[in-house]
Amino acid sequence: MSDFPKHFVWGTATAAYQIEGAVQQDGRGVSVWDLFTHTPGKIKDGSNGDRACDHYHRFPEDIRLMKELGVNAYRFSISWPRIQPEGKGRVNPKGIAFYDRLLDGLLEQHIDPYATLFHWDLPQALEDQGGWMNRDTAYRFAEYAHLLADAFQDRIKSWITLNEPFVVLTLGYALGQHAPGKAYGLQAMPVAHHQMLGHGLAVQAIRDISQSPIGITHSLAPAIPATDRDEDIQAATLMDEFHNGLFLDPLLRGQYPKSLVALMGEQAESFIRTEDLSVMSAPIDFLGVNYYAPDHVRANSKAPLGLEMVPMPDRPKTGFGWPIVPEGLTQLLLDLKERYAEKLPPIHITENGCSYPDLPDAAGKIDDSKRIEYLELHLEALLKALDKGVDVRGYFCWSLLDNFEWAEGYTQRFGLVHVDFETLKRTPKASYHWLQQFLRGK
Ligand code: FCB
Repeated sequence: MSDFPKHFVWGTATAAYQIEGAVQQDGRGVSVWDLFTHTPGKIKDGSNGDRACDHYHRFPEDIRLMKELGVNAYRFSISWPRIQPEGKGRVNPKGIAFYDRLLDGLLEQHIDPYATLFHWDLPQALEDQGGWMNRDTAYRFAEYAHLLADAFQDRIKSWITLNEPFVVLTLGYALGQHAPGKAYGLQAMPVAHHQMLGHGLAVQAIRDISQSPIGITHSLAPAIPATDRDEDIQAATLMDEFHNGLFLDPLLRGQYPKSLVALMGEQAESFIRTEDLSVMSAPIDFLGVNYYAPDHVRANSKAPLGLEMVPMPDRPKTGFGWPIVPEGLTQLLLDLKERYAEKLPPIHITENGCSYPDLPDAAGKIDDSKRIEYLELHLEALLKALDKGVDVRGYFCWSLLDNFEWAEGYTQRFGLVHVDFETLKRTPKASYHWLQQFLRGK
């Protein structure tokens, strides 16, 4: 097996609400996650991101940690309510100033900033108008993208419009497990369309100003039938279209998968306008892929979509209970190449990683050997896809720091660096030192 290409991008990834804290500081507006986390019963440990890792104040230390780790890129997200407290109109200069400091700090250390414009923290003021169920949010997103492009221009080395619109659709608006906590079931489908329309409009808005490459990050997963029964195979095909095709087909082919149009029925006509598809399929420079585990699917006529996710037997699991399936990453990338052929842009793996509950031992060391093994296996799986001709240009480990893991609160630790949430002390784990050695060899 060959090695990674010389100019491969190596980075870590984070998101604003999960690390910044300072939610009421310097004029930041309220986000849907502020309201959701402060609603009793929504977050496993009753916690919230009010303080999180306090990255807002400690970012110089976090940049130092990245520098010493040896990465050449950093994927972070910009908090929309910090920039536009009401989600439209008025700009908060202190919000811009924070990201100015962050960008300058990264560039001084020769770490390329990859900025995600929306990693789930929608301004509450927009949610009050329907959030992503409302077509208007797509236009507000493009305005926000335009003003960021104006403020930061080419200091942002790569733009990522959205993070995982699939998760916003399913957990945020269909099932209600994430903010804004709506359980609309299949009636939530406009959320997928409006996010992808917002993406397309944002691509145009950024291109008017910035020369930097533009992409979008999707959570993607190969769908594996639980058995070789026909109904399970059909269920897996539908899941694949719902999870992957719903977003990639409009983006790369300018059309929705037929099965999903049929599923949406007359509802589709109420929110999909034909001209939207050419906006959504505006050419992009790269596709961000987040990979954690495959979808293991079984038919169930009583469940939504007639299918359900079932555990993968005989597989080791991460602390989250997610199965460890490195070859799923190879398969996913090969499938993408086969399906979209010359329409597939270069890929960055914008997230991959695992949670384990490892804490410091008596000597203060954190031996997260399972994370090292996980990363080794996934990097090997990635190399296999590269060897077979998939054009992957970068890998971002989720995450730099232990952080606020959405509905799981602080119970899932994904960091290469341990964070003590009482003292906020950062302690690199064994995996950090392993990755440091690995990158020194590059
Ligand atoms: C992804 C999210 C990221 C983090 C990881 C574990 O779905 O994009 O914020 O929560 O999962």
